[in-house]
Amino acid sequence: MKIIRSLTIGLIAVSALTYSCGGGGSSSSTETSTSTPPPAAAPVSLEEKYKDDPVFVAGSAKAKEAGCTACHMIQRKIVGPSYADVAAKYENTEENVELLTSHVIQGNVGVWGEVPMPAHPHLSKEDVETIVRYVLILK
Ligand code: HEC
Repeated sequence: MKIIRSLTIGLIAVSALTYSCGGGGSSSSTETSTSTPPPAAAPVSLEEKYKDDPVFVAGSAKAKEAGCTACHMIQRKIVGPSYADVAAKYENTEENVELLTSHVIQGNVGVWGEVPMPAHPHLSKEDVETIVRYVLILK
């Protein structure tokens, strides 16, 4: 059951992505592409910045274990928002840890778009909190 359910959610995600990328073909190509290239000195990645922080070490290990990495990356949006985007949106407070932990365990939709995050009822609150604390330092 669980497998079928997450497959279905995956399919919804894929079709939503296809849909959102497919439209907009009718606009003319008069846009100028004169934007300046990014500066050469690349900033230190968040992973590099926090790799020795125990909150980062514990949370990223749990996130891998729990499969969050299938849909989330630290600095790039894939199926779900990047952790950096989540951290930018929510202050690192106990209330937000609680709120996001319940969104992860119960599943959620509508904050970041129409693609839902599936529920994770099999994960303990403690483990999810460990991951959420790690997400919220990534700024
Ligand atoms: C099947 C893909 C998928 C998996 C697996 C997944 N997520 Fe998500 N996640 C999403 C999507 C899509 C959203 C955006 C939902 C929305 O718009 O409300 C999201 C949103 C979030 C948010 C922000 C919630 C909010 O209310 O702003 C957090 C935090 C998060 N995920 C953490 C996790 C963690 C931790 C795990 C692993 C236990 C996980 N996700 C696993 C797809 C996924």
